[in-house]
Amino acid sequence: MKDKIQIEKYIEDLENQFKNKFSKSKEIFEQGLDYFPNSVAQPARTLKPFPPFIESASGNSVMTVDGVELLDFWQGHFCNILGHNHPVLTEAISSNITNNCALQSGFLTPLENELASLFRKTTNMESFIFTTSGTLATMYATMLGLSYTKKSLVLKLEGGWHGAQPWSVTGVKYPEGINKNVLESSGLPEDWDEQVVTVPMNDIEALTKCFDKCGDKIGVFILELVLGNSGMVMANKDFIKEVRRLTEQYGVVLIIDEMVTGFRVRAGGLYKLYDIEPDLVTFGKVVTGGMPFACIAGKRKIIEEASSSKKIRVWADSGTFNCHPTSLRVAIETIKYLVEHEQEIYPSIIKKMNTLRNACKEIMCKYNIDIDITGESNDDSIPNFPIGTIRFIKDKEKYDKTKAINHWNGDLVDTNLRDRVIRIALMLKGIYVWQGMGVVTHSHSEDDIIKLISAYEEFASELGN
Ligand SMILES: Cc1ncc(COP(=O)(O)O)c(C=O)c1O
Repeated sequence: MKDKIQIEKYIEDLENQFKNKFSKSKEIFEQGLDYFPNSVAQPARTLKPFPPFIESASGNSVMTVDGVELLDFWQGHFCNILGHNHPVLTEAISSNITNNCALQSGFLTPLENELASLFRKTTNMESFIFTTSGTLATMYATMLGLSYTKKSLVLKLEGGWHGAQPWSVTGVKYPEGINKNVLESSGLPEDWDEQVVTVPMNDIEALTKCFDKCGDKIGVFILELVLGNSGMVMANKDFIKEVRRLTEQYGVVLIIDEMVTGFRVRAGGLYKLYDIEPDLVTFGKVVTGGMPFACIAGKRKIIEEASSSKKIRVWADSGTFNCHPTSLRVAIETIKYLVEHEQEIYPSIIKKMNTLRNACKEIMCKYNIDIDITGESNDDSIPNFPIGTIRFIKDKEKYDKTKAINHWNGDLVDTNLRDRVIRIALMLKGIYVWQGMGVVTHSHSEDDIIKLISAYEEFASELGN
């Protein structure tokens, strides 16, 4: 790589070009500066010095207010597996408008049963609760599990994220191990850090120790099979099998949060490829088709904790916008489409992602840039994940790719290059990436993959030596 001074100069040049090319976005950003606590309404979408603002989005790309078309590998926080505004889904929305059932009526419709039966067919789960966001789904699922087990401790993975809800804000970015949980949100009761314990992913020894120490107190273990917040680190099959064994032994409700992984590599949950049966599963993102929706699926005996036949039940299903008719219609059409086109969609997405991953590695190596690309499976029965990030490695000696938490360790990984510089550099070349790479969807053609590979080549030649 170039030396520190050359890189600083390179970044300064990029920012100047960016300010010129995206000047209208800059103007809108500056107009909104004092409305929101983080300068923009959705901080996950912002960027220093300012984010691009868009006017429209279609298929593989978005059009910014500056008139710049960006080939998009972020795709609605990963919910648009068919690309932006897929016609099958926008037609479904139009038909709801035509039939006067586009907005919330506050009545039940036949759509709820139709969607539940699709979930049952694709997941084999018995019972369902629908809600409006992944955050609520994981929070309700946790409450159901705690109510069922009558225990109060929640176990999660270091570096895991389940939305900004009270049981998910520990050990997200700066975890320090099982006995030192770091509460990363204020505004919660003082002793809240005692409600959640964390273990590192793929570490069977730490997992066993944790269960030996507090297995009897744990009511819920919530985890992802691919740690999204840690840049898509895949769980090992033997780790997950041990998780299932221990949770059964200790009577712990196992929640697999499939917000990112669900319907991503097959028309159903990823847990099937891990050969386990969770107690509860949460789905959102892909199955929503881009509308606000999420689902808790699971064993009837646990979901029954929400039943009004109980004296005190889990309040997991109220909400003005629950079962919004347009969200349900779009979810139905999305799942149907994914089931009908399963063989056409998934193998091709995975193949394109593998091409991208391999080419990126070769290019960075050619220019002496040390990187690691996340999302790789180490089991033949589980494909590489179609979402990946590029970690620019700062300290090769100390960097350990098996440790998910290294993703946020600024001493080992250059987070500025990954989260900011490459994003700006590639936007100047007409491509929008997330953490250096992002998601490959059905909307991306082989040509789109080649475009991103060529952009990597240019970027690497600018940054490397
Ligand atoms: C694994 C996981 N769970 C839960 C959530 C929260 O979902 P939502 O943003 O729909 O509230 C997210 C969001 O990114 C997620 O990645």
